[in-house]
Amino acid sequence: MTGINPLSGSAKLAGVMGWPVAHSLSPRLHGFWLNRYGIDGAYVPLAVSPEDLAETIRLLPKIGFRGVNLTLPHKETVLPLLDEISPSAARIGAVNTVVVTDDGALRGENTDGWGFIESLIQATPDWIPQDAPAVILGAGGAARSVAFALGDAGVPRLIVCNRTESRSEALVRTLTDEGIAAETGPWLPGPNILAQAGLLVNTTSLGMAGVPPLEISLDGLPAMATVADIVYTPLTTDLLHTARVRGHRTVDGLGMLLHQARGGFRAWFGTDPEVTEDLRIHVLDGLQGD
Ligand code: ATR
Repeated sequence: MTGINPLSGSAKLAGVMGWPVAHSLSPRLHGFWLNRYGIDGAYVPLAVSPEDLAETIRLLPKIGFRGVNLTLPHKETVLPLLDEISPSAARIGAVNTVVVTDDGALRGENTDGWGFIESLIQATPDWIPQDAPAVILGAGGAARSVAFALGDAGVPRLIVCNRTESRSEALVRTLTDEGIAAETGPWLPGPNILAQAGLLVNTTSLGMAGVPPLEISLDGLPAMATVADIVYTPLTTDLLHTARVRGHRTVDGLGMLLHQARGGFRAWFGTDPEVTEDLRIHVLDGLQGD
């Protein structure tokens, strides 16, 4: 299924701004939903260079766009260009979704952490966040989104393990300042740390195609613990494979990508879209370059 909707003169418009943008899966993803729900709308790739971002983003209300997603390298640099920033985007310091409000203002939101939690809930509906601490591998932008979302969901303690300890210390400070119980752990965490976890999440790029693997032993991780990876190329990372062999429930990174997109789609096109197996297959076909 592709974006072949016949458009009327009042079609709702949105897109994704990035530089480069050609690799983005978002047009494929939103195009699937526009077709699925029979919406008179279009979602297009917008190749916008860093120097053109300020001018281009301010044009959106003037040319009838309802908003855009932002991808590299615009997620942080866009902040001073917007009229309003949602509390979650302000806390994370990055915007992935811009909504043009009824009065033509630009509101920045961040749906990454929410998307991660929704993906986790869809894959493990009986997950009770309050039951056990989570171990987070990594302390970059993705870790920040995931950590705040887990803390907000009620996870009692976060253990942040990162190769560069100053970064995990900084993230832990930000979390504790916001009232979220967090501490740093060693890189890599061993059985004593893993034994405490109800959830282990990789937010680093390790395991991604073309990047070294994440070489972690899962010894000590309780059988009930879930293992999640935000990497989705490949869909089954070595980490998830090892976890499955040990009998853990696993959550792959594609779920976060698909669920984070729901927030923008709902705001721009007025429907909360569903993340279904046929959507996953459609987006995966795009990854394989069909
Ligand atoms: P993002 O915004 O996608 O999270 P990032 O801010 O560059 O990207 O963070 C990348 C994460 O992957 C970091 O936690 C990084 O660890 P460092 O803070 O020590 O750099 C982690 N990472 C990347 N390559 C790594 C490697 N070879 N070994 C261990 N961690 C790695």
